[in-house]
Amino acid sequence: MKSIVHDQLGPADSVLRLTDREVPEPGEGEVRIRVAVSGVNPTDWKARTGLYGGNVVESVPNQDGAGLVDAIGPGVDGVAVGDRVWVTLAAFQRPLSGTAQEYTVVPVERVFPLADNASFALGASIGIPAITAHRALTVAEGGPTRLSPGALKGKVVLVAGGAGAVGHAAVQLARWAGATVIATTSPKKTDYAEAAGAHHVVNYRDEDAAAQIRGIAPDGVDLVVEVAAGANNELDLAVLRPRGTIAIYANDGDQPFAIDIRANMGLNSRYQFVLLYSVGWEFLTAAAEDINEAIAAGVLPVGAEAGLPLHHFKLDQTVEAHQAVESGATGKVLIDVADL
Ligand SMILES: NC(=O)c1ccc[n+]([C@@H]2O[C@H](COP(=O)([O-])OP(=O)(O)OC[C@H]3O[C@@H](n4cnc5c(N)ncnc54)[C@H](OP(=O)(O)O)[C@@H]3O)[C@@H](O)[C@H]2O)c1
Repeated sequence: MKSIVHDQLGPADSVLRLTDREVPEPGEGEVRIRVAVSGVNPTDWKARTGLYGGNVVESVPNQDGAGLVDAIGPGVDGVAVGDRVWVTLAAFQRPLSGTAQEYTVVPVERVFPLADNASFALGASIGIPAITAHRALTVAEGGPTRLSPGALKGKVVLVAGGAGAVGHAAVQLARWAGATVIATTSPKKTDYAEAAGAHHVVNYRDEDAAAQIRGIAPDGVDLVVEVAAGANNELDLAVLRPRGTIAIYANDGDQPFAIDIRANMGLNSRYQFVLLYSVGWEFLTAAAEDINEAIAAGVLPVGAEAGLPLHHFKLDQTVEAHQAVESGATGKVLIDVADL
């Protein structure tokens, strides 16, 4: 089968190469997936460049994907050959199980049914972004631990970076759950967040961004879904209501993040950090179930009209796909592996 591999850490065009590998067999508790579409996330290039450290071993990139179950190992229940599925964290602690290849073998816990109304492109777009968004939306004091229509009714959610892949999913899930959704974007990306369903969009570069948000939510926001913790900390504290939560899943821009103890004590606020790799399978599974409800309800669309343009590449263009994500492409970068 065709696989993209790298056995060194470094730039995409130096280390990624297309090769032939044996089709792997699923072991106990594992399934083999014939990959239709591989989704690329920032974590994939960060791992490939060595940002997470670790030993250099032969690896196949990309955590997310969608396709058909092709074979099942012993002890696997509830999944059948031919099922349409999406997969996430495929390569976590399994370097050769990334989705940038024609077949991958993963533990069945990482595999979720893909609704008939959902394309493989959607299936490959949701894993890491939507589960991260779900986690961020379910960690607030007094907030829900699961998402469903009405779960966030009466809450005001601020999604920083509403045009990003995670931000897009956060806007959609928060809106589906009944929150008032305010998104921030840079000026050129307002339309994306609006198309995703944000009730209000504010340019985070405006000097009066906090005043604009306070104008929309005079009592403050209940929850911030934060992509740039350092850059936005002052803004977040200026708009947070007492006992509000700031859920931090990234520090894009790398600005230093310092906790203002006095301001936070005054707000009885809490910071909740989010990292999918350590969140725990029980939370991932719960998130995937809620996300599948949202997909079935048709409220997690992708594509330009939904505020998340899709950028398609072929397997032999994985270098270009990684470079697109690394350079901050707006939307979702996908690798079409097979036409299933
Ligand atoms: N913790 C986790 O488990 C987890 C999971 C998924 C992703 N991540 C991380 O989260 C980050 C985003 O991932 P992604 O896939 O959503 O990437 P993405 O699609 O590239 O989106 C990033 C977004 O952040 C926005 N942004 C940057 N600086 C901002 C600021 N100061 N205020 C508001 N928005 C800002 C960008 O918008 P503008 O261009 O308009 O500024 C862009 O829309 C990456 O660092 C990724 O590694 C972490």
